[in-house]
Formats: sequence, C-alpha cells, structure tokens
Amino acid sequence: MSTVNTLWQQQVISWEYTSAATPDLNEVPIQPFPASLHEQGDTRVIALDLSKDLETPYLATSPNLLANYVRICANEKISTTVAATSEVFFVLRGSGRTETADGTVVWQQGDAFTLPCNQGVTHFADEDSALYWSHDGPLLQYMGVQPNKAMFKPAYYSKAYMRDEVGKLRETAMQEKRNRVGIILGNTDSAKTKTMTHTMWSLFNLLPKGEVQKPHRHQSVALDLAAFSGPDTYTLIGKKVDENGDIINPVKAMWATNSVFVTPPGWWHSHHNESDQDAYVFPVQDAGLHTYMRTLDIQFVR
Ligand SMILES: [Fe+2]
Repeated sequence: MSTVNTLWQQQVISWEYTSAATPDLNEVPIQPFPASLHEQGDTRVIALDLSKDLETPYLATSPNLLANYVRICANEKISTTVAATSEVFFVLRGSGRTETADGTVVWQQGDAFTLPCNQGVTHFADEDSALYWSHDGPLLQYMGVQPNKAMFKPAYYSKAYMRDEVGKLRETAMQEKRNRVGIILGNTDSAKTKTMTHTMWSLFNLLPKGEVQKPHRHQSVALDLAAFSGPDTYTLIGKKVDENGDIINPVKAMWATNSVFVTPPGWWHSHHNESDQDAYVFPVQDAGLHTYMRTLDIQFVR
C-alpha cells in the first residue's frame, strides 16, 4: 500500500514553547498617508499599502483591512470590486453617485456608506471627487476564502445625520470630559456588537477646538481619517502611559484634512486640538471582529 505518511512528515516543524510563544512578527507601523495622494492625476484607486511592512503577499494597510483613496475626476467614473465581507466609504471631496446591485446611492462630501459583499460597484463623479474606501479584503486573503453571503444590508450615513448626532451630545460630553465626543456608527444588522458591520467599526468623533481627548487603547488597528482639521491638531501614540495617564515618549501624528494615519494595535493614543477650529476624525477599525472575539480589550486612562 502506498501511503503519504513520509510526504506529510516533511511538513512538520515544532518549537520549544517558551522561546516560541510570542512569534516575531513585524509591528504595524504608524504610517501617514497625505491627501496629496488623491488630489492630483487620473481617476484611479490609490491603495494605502503597507504589505512590505506586514510581509503579506496581498495589499494591506493592517493585517485585516485595506484602506484606499479613490480619486474620480469630474464627470468620470470608476468601478471597484473586491472579495470582502464589508466595505466602508467616506466622501472626502465632491459629489456623485454609486451604482450597486442594491440600488444607486447619491453622495456628497462628508457622507459615509457601507456595502456587504458584492460583485462590484461603479462610482460616478459630478465634480472632482475623492472617496476613502476601506474593506476587510486582507482578512479574506489570509484565510483563502471568497465571501458568498451578504451579512448585512447596505447603509447610508449623511453628513447632516452624523454632525447633528454629535452636536446633540457635544456640551454634555465636554462637561463630563468623556474620552471621546462621538457616535459609533451602527447598522441594525450588527446591533449586537454595536459596530458598523459585523467585522468593521467606525466612529464619527468631534475633537472640539482647544480640547484634549485622553488616551485609550484597544487591540483593533485604527485607520484614522482626519475628516476635517485646522492647524496644530494631532494624535499622540505610544506603547505605555505613566502614572499620570500621559503617554510615554509618544509619536506625534499630525491631522491634516482628508489624510490618513495608522494607529497600531494596543498602543495608547490621545487627541489634541490646539487650534481655534473644531476637528473631526473618522477612524475605521477591525473592531467588529475583535468585539465578536471578545478580544477588543479597550482601556481608558482615569
Ligand atoms: Fe482609539
């Protein structure tokens, strides 16, 4: 009888436990992606790619997510197709519409919308436009799977809705010095995890002029879009906090309107607005997945 035992033994490897319990993977870098990437050139998708840092054979901004800028010149169109379970869009600039199998959604600057797995959509711009587009394609690439079921219905979040909802809680949140002045965006199909989709999460967070939002940390990676910012507005990011709750030896990520930076998993981060203009940040994270796995581990300084 011919067997495969010898062949299959060639695959075997093992490690002594204490020296191998924490594999030496590259860290997720704190990486800025300037707005200039989507402010010039032809209609196209610009991947915010960190695959070299992450050592993945596919495009990725974090292990689970890929963020992109989609630049669409006036009166032009572009199709986007990805094997993902969740796609999150935020309109950076301009106005237009996106045609999907579930219908046509009209959008303008400051709006957001989500799509479940689909066969592709086409974006049409009425004027010079740009979208911030994130999805969980890298997670599916890692698992070697194709999505075959829409896990939620698409949702559209208007700029007016998000601004009004944050406006309603602004005064109370500031008086109580809450950790963030924002709304977690939801979908009735992922209400259990209180996330935007079953895998992805986003917050529409106001950082009022002159204010500081104290550090917190979580195991999800944040792909942070500065949706609007004046000068001297930034995030401090570091691995540890001192006894006063201040971040030790932080890296400073400046906010610039319509630019993105990455906040690595587990790192403490605080937001600072030293300008006289309110600022808004729209972080996109894999926190739907972490919440489901009970691994988010969000912690706040006192
Ligand atoms: Fe955060």
